Amino acid sequence: MLSLSIETSCDETSVAVLDNDKVISNIISSQISHVKFGGVVPEIASREHLNKIIEITELALSESGKELKDIKLISATSEPGLIGALLTGLNFGKSLSMSLNIPFVPVNHIHAHLYSNFLNKDKTEFPFISLIVSGGHTLLVLAEDFFKHKVLGKTVDDAAGEAFDKVAKLLGLNYPGGPEIEKHAVNGNKDYHKFPLAHVKGSEFDFSFSGLKTSVLYFLKKIDFANVKNDELLNNICASFQNAAVSSLFNKTLSAAEKYNIRNIKVSGGVSSNKYLQHKFNFLKDSGYSISFPEKKYSTDNAAMIGLVGYYKYKFSGDKNYFLNESLLINAKAKVDYEKF
Ligand code: KG4
Ligand code: ZN
Repeated sequence: MLSLSIETSCDETSVAVLDNDKVISNIISSQISHVKFGGVVPEIASREHLNKIIEITELALSESGKELKDIKLISATSEPGLIGALLTGLNFGKSLSMSLNIPFVPVNHIHAHLYSNFLNKDKTEFPFISLIVSGGHTLLVLAEDFFKHKVLGKTVDDAAGEAFDKVAKLLGLNYPGGPEIEKHAVNGNKDYHKFPLAHVKGSEFDFSFSGLKTSVLYFLKKIDFANVKNDELLNNICASFQNAAVSSLFNKTLSAAEKYNIRNIKVSGGVSSNKYLQHKFNFLKDSGYSISFPEKKYSTDNAAMIGLVGYYKYKFSGDKNYFLNESLLINAKAKVDYEKF
């Protein structure tokens, strides 16, 4: 069954065409107008989605070699994200499904990151510990089966990717900060400075990154970074920060895997494309763990992962009327409901 999926929750306008769970085309247009602001400006994001959505849909269809009349299912991100940005893709998708008289499936963006590890892979094995690390979310989940998730921990303040972005800004690097920090960290010494790892009171698996960001800020002030900065210093600070952020993600994920006795770990979201993070997790393979990351093109925001979850939801529900009538009433939500995750 051919499906068309839409992702517009933040600053990527993306449309994909899937044949069941196989990706045929996946077009991603990243909005660059936010770079000069050092972060995503919600109103600009919504307007750019509106300008691009038809063109990107046409591109995804032409690259897939299919026509709109071949599509039998539409899915789009409905939550969480920037509300105006979500509304653009969601309403475009709902309208398309009404005009074609085909089912529509709303998709939770974080589910999509979680299942992005199954894209273009042969096996869909459960259970696994899922670490979802993006610019907006940091979540540790026990995935027992399809849509049987237990949220073990989440960030109490900044998301992991957000910490990379904010620290990059402090260092005078461009947005998005993650790839910039990684680029400099490769040539730096991770032991140059020990930034503190946060302990969150009351929850063993919750994360916190705002303290780490603040300690980088104080450190930069202490060494008068603005006046003494040079490439070596920048590289060393990037490597030390990256080590602290990744260690915190790694330690909690490993503790959760040990506690629940699960040897299968899947990391996803933009930060999962970080090579140092991958290197650290891959070490666990020597101790019998199975470790996986999505392909790079599926780690940051993309519509293929939305289409995969749309397809799974449709397949497991099987009731076309539900999707036609009920889903069209669903509206966008900025925040995720962890109780119903
Ligand atoms: O999953 P994603 O595309 O968007 C959200 O759902 O938020 O993740 C974007 C985030 C940004 O914060 C970006 O800085 C971070 O992922 N990121 C990275 C890397 N590539 C992207 N962080 C660390 N290292 C990277 N190589
Ligand atoms: Zn995302």
